[in-house]
Amino acid sequence: MTPVERDLRYHAALGLAAEASQLALGYFNRRETLGITMKGAQDWLTVADGEVEAFLRGRLSTLFPGDSIIGEEGGGEPSDAVWILDPIDGTANFAHGDRNWCISIGFLADRTPEIGIVTAPALGEVYAARRGAGATLNGEPVKVSGATDIARAAIELGWSTRVPAARYLEVIGRAYAAGASVKRLGSGTLGLCHVACGWSDAYTELHINAWDVAAGIVVANEAGAHLNDFFAGEGIAKGNPILCCTPGLAVELKEITGIA
Ligand code: IPD
Repeated sequence: MTPVERDLRYHAALGLAAEASQLALGYFNRRETLGITMKGAQDWLTVADGEVEAFLRGRLSTLFPGDSIIGEEGGGEPSDAVWILDPIDGTANFAHGDRNWCISIGFLADRTPEIGIVTAPALGEVYAARRGAGATLNGEPVKVSGATDIARAAIELGWSTRVPAARYLEVIGRAYAAGASVKRLGSGTLGLCHVACGWSDAYTELHINAWDVAAGIVVANEAGAHLNDFFAGEGIAKGNPILCCTPGLAVELKEITGIA
């Protein structure tokens, strides 16, 4: 893919994210009237998830008919030019009226994460990054905190029922024993963006799906974060563990999480 083709996709994704944000915010503001169902234990689904994904799929497939699309709700197949979408990341927050949810649009060319656009409409935040061009929040450059001392670090540990609770408890125990402060916000994508801004020193989770991190990985990477090779093996199709942190915490957090 040429730089021009990549930049065309970046600007298109920014525009589509703005439109999708208005659509999602409309649903959020009248969420009491929306159909909300459970896909599984603590796995939420709202009408907004389906509608926002359908909007993005429709527009992307018209603009770039040769690209493939993978979305949380509609699935899809990887290719050498693939969009990875999460229409609402932090769906449980959305359903509860918590404003920490976002729309995540990632793009990979030849398995390399190239573009990440993340909007948090209820917070007025737009995170954007292209590989090699830096990361921004609402147009201003962002970078990781530079933390090196685990005993002063604020780390986010994501959670889902896909991994036995005992394994999370082990990691939390090791993190607290090392002196870290542990939190959970409820959106993997925003968690990565918060590392990019220096608001957290790390985001880690024992299993997460590609749509929850594809865009955030580009944002965090461009802000100077250390990241594991999330897309290795079957990462796109089946997900993987993720470790995203300041470079100075990488060695210790690899030991604490067991994520290489
Ligand atoms: C979830 C969120 C959560 C993370 C889970 C994801 P969803 O995605 O990103 O923070 O810990 O692993 O499944 O269901 O809100 O799109």
